[in-house]
Amino acid sequence: MTQTTKPKIIVSGIQPTGGLHLGNYIGAIRNYVTLQDEGRCFYFLADLHAITQPHVPAELHAQTREMAAALIACGVDPDKAVLFNQARVPAHAELCWLLNGTARMGWLNRMTQWKDKAGKNSEGQSVGLFTYPVLQSADVLLYQATHVPVGEDQKQHIELIRDIANKFHHDFAPDVFTVPEPLIPAIGARIMSLRDGKAKMSKSDPSDMSRINLSDSVDDIASKIKKAKTDPEPLPSDLAGLEGRAEARNLVGIYAALAGTSEADVLRDFGGQGFGSFKPALADLVVSIFAPITARFKELCADTDMLDAILVRGASRAREAAGPTLARTYEALGLVK
Ligand code: TYM
Repeated sequence: MTQTTKPKIIVSGIQPTGGLHLGNYIGAIRNYVTLQDEGRCFYFLADLHAITQPHVPAELHAQTREMAAALIACGVDPDKAVLFNQARVPAHAELCWLLNGTARMGWLNRMTQWKDKAGKNSEGQSVGLFTYPVLQSADVLLYQATHVPVGEDQKQHIELIRDIANKFHHDFAPDVFTVPEPLIPAIGARIMSLRDGKAKMSKSDPSDMSRINLSDSVDDIASKIKKAKTDPEPLPSDLAGLEGRAEARNLVGIYAALAGTSEADVLRDFGGQGFGSFKPALADLVVSIFAPITARFKELCADTDMLDAILVRGASRAREAAGPTLARTYEALGLVK
């Protein structure tokens, strides 16, 4: 008997606000690029997610376009992958509403991202921030995704997507959705802040020194790495020696992820050396990868018509792909016959 393997459908998104940083690149975007040759890919700018927190309407459209330019500069090819923004594909908001009947308050209440973002003021947050993972579920389930490339911080959201799909199948009709798997890189799944090895590198960190942005100059990158928080000890020669040294571990992890090697190999090369020699080597490596991407990003940003045309075309392909699943969901819920 011949075995047929289901073709991979890969879906992932990034919020357009705040620009792309090294954590996004290592944790997710590099994977987007590799996966383009392994299946049908849908990559989108999560502009509908961006409105769940305070934002500047006059800037959102330009930020969405810029994030599209950033993804293309990193190697996302709009001829291979379907690249679009959520707002141009109403099926995302529609399916989100349909799934709101299945998602449970208790599940959403347990989301660590909700707890982190809401802090002590959950009463003052938008309802959208609370139901954010339901929209994320719609994003993925609409396209029958088999795989979702993300950084470690999104793992819990992908588990929730699986729970929602399974409950929907149990309550209404089987096999409406594909239950997806997360794809999380072995190295670099959680890049930490350059100022605090216990906090994630994030666009919402008020200190720009905490992250390396795609828009940073070569000098900015060198200076941020030079000033990155470390400890006075030299680098150890093996992994055990990184225990309790979160900042050192983070820099070694970044080096390993970008050099395509393991942390153990990095320590074999740099063990015994101080940060005075390791940091310039790391800065050179980051610059060697980011500088060409940044140059391409700037060129692309200048051509707004071309970027808009790519997003319009991507949205039309996405609408077509999303249609059948949306229709089956309406039917399964008894809303249409
Ligand atoms: P966002 O915009 O915060 O981040 C985009 C991607 O970058 C990864 N990432 C990191 N990886 C490693 N280290 C870090 N410090 C780091 N910071 C961010 C994230 O894990 C993510 O993969 N909710 C999502 C966007 C989204 C989505 C989706 C993702 C909306 N719908 C459907 C997948 C599928 C978010 O805010 O990612």
